[in-house]
Parts: sequence; structure tokens; C-alpha cells
Amino acid sequence: MIFYFSGTGNSFYAAKQIAEHIHEPLVSIAAAVNSGSQAYKYTLKDREAIGFVFPTHSWGPPKIVLDFLEGLELDGYDSHYMFGVATCGGNIGNAMDVVNRQLKRKGMELSSGFSIVMPNNYIIMGDVDSKERQEAKLSAAEKALESIREAVMDRQRGVFRLKKGFPARLLTGVVHPMFVKNGIQPAKFHATDSCQGCETCEKVCGSGNIAVDGKPEWGSRCTLCLACLHYCPVQAIQYGKSTERKGRYTNRNVSIKEIIGG
Ligand SMILES: Cc1cc2nc3c(=O)[nH]c(=O)nc-3n(C[C@H](O)[C@H](O)[C@H](O)COP(=O)(O)O)c2cc1C
Repeated sequence: MIFYFSGTGNSFYAAKQIAEHIHEPLVSIAAAVNSGSQAYKYTLKDREAIGFVFPTHSWGPPKIVLDFLEGLELDGYDSHYMFGVATCGGNIGNAMDVVNRQLKRKGMELSSGFSIVMPNNYIIMGDVDSKERQEAKLSAAEKALESIREAVMDRQRGVFRLKKGFPARLLTGVVHPMFVKNGIQPAKFHATDSCQGCETCEKVCGSGNIAVDGKPEWGSRCTLCLACLHYCPVQAIQYGKSTERKGRYTNRNVSIKEIIGG
């Protein structure tokens, strides 16, 4: 079973590639959390591999992923092979350790963990990568995915191939909690006059946080994945002033239907 969360398709692509290779179903974290249930219960098969695939948000896992892990109940868990994959634009800090700590609290543990550098979608501070850099990252990601698929297929334990950056402890221990506490401000989202009320933002929002009534309105359940902003077909969505005149990015190997399906 491969649990995934993805804003702009990178993590969905990685999850799908692994799931198809090891013949395991994809399970959307967003759909589970939005179901309104507080407990996320699944029954495991013998020798089933369990994966968690997610983007890095400020050197930690997205809040929605932590909420999911908090309520996760895996019936039949008995030291099953469990792995994490964090996609990122540059490095993940100690994001995988945060996930592992949360799992350990529930009596489970990661057997292995991986990071994959993919095109950046965080345009609140920086900008998207150049087209050349996106292509270079996507082709390097293919190779990384190939070796992750092999490791998972062979149930390799104790393999932690993580690009952590420096200083990982500070990034995850100090910057990430500040981001979770103060950095997610959905009230900053707004649609400009170019908005045509097409409802794409509402449909791609993994947090079920957007309602379009002529124009989109954002509630408070945001995880700041930026799907709404990047998938808007007329680039009408901005976050304060910081995303004006910035590029937009969505993974070209993933259809909008697949994102909405989650
Ligand atoms: C709010 C936010 C914070 C981010 N923080 C980081 C980060 O700390 N390190 C990094 O390398 N990339 C960071 N990124 C970039 C994403 O992790 C990266 O583009 C990821 O592959 C996006 O995956 P997705 O398309 O599945 O959402 C951030 C993106 C967002 C939206």
C-alpha cells in the first residue's frame, strides 16, 4: 500500500512509479483526511510493503501528512517493510526523521527512506526552476526512482539515501515548526480579475479548503501545497504579492484528473 500526498504532481508521479512496479495500490492521504474520519484504518497483507510518499514543506513533511500519521491504524502490522520517499526542490533536512518519529510513537518504524530532487514548486520565496533545470531534475529523478523501486522490490532494510542539506537539525528543528505555526496563511490567497470561476482550484485542493462561488474563497484547512495556484489555467491565483511575476509548475507526467482523483 503506497500512501501519498502531492500538491503539483511530483510526489504523485514518484508514488505511481513505485506502486506500479511493486503491484501495490495507491492510497490518497488527502482523501482519507478529508473523509472526516479521525482514524485511518487499513488491513495489511503478509509481506506487503507500505510506502509514504510526500513533498518536503519547509524541511518537514506537510501538516496533512502528520495529521494522517497521527490517526493511522494498520491492522496486521508485524514489522512489515515500511519506507518513506520525500520529494523536494533541493533538500529535505530531517523530514524523514519527523515521519519516523511519528510512526515510532504508534509502534511502527521505517525500514528505509529516500529523497528525490524534483522541480521546485515553492514560489512564495523563490521561483520555479528554469525549463532546463526542470528537465535535468526530472531525468535525474527517473534514475533515482529506478533504484528506489529496486530497493523496495528487494525489501532492502536500513537504506537511508537522503539529501538532508545543512544544517539539517536547525532547518527541521527550528525553521519547520515556525513554518507550521506561522507560515501557512490561507487568508493571503486571492484570485485576480482574470479568474473565470472555473473551479479548478477547488477540485485540485487536497485539503478540501476552497469553495468557488463566482470566485474562490479559502478556508483555514490549508497545508500550503500550492496546487490551487499552480493548476489555475489563467494564473489568476496569488499568495499576497510574493507570487506575482513568478512562474508556475506542474509535473507534466501527471494529469490534472489524477490529482483531482486523490
Ligand atoms: C510550502 C512549501 C515548502 C517547501 N519547502 C521545501 C524545502 O524545505 N526544501 C525543498 O527542497 N523543497 C521545498 N519545497 C519544494 C517541494 O518540496 C518540491 O517541489 C516537491 O517535489 C513538490 O511536490 P508535489 O508536486 O508532490 O507537491 C517546498 C514547497 C512548498 C509548497
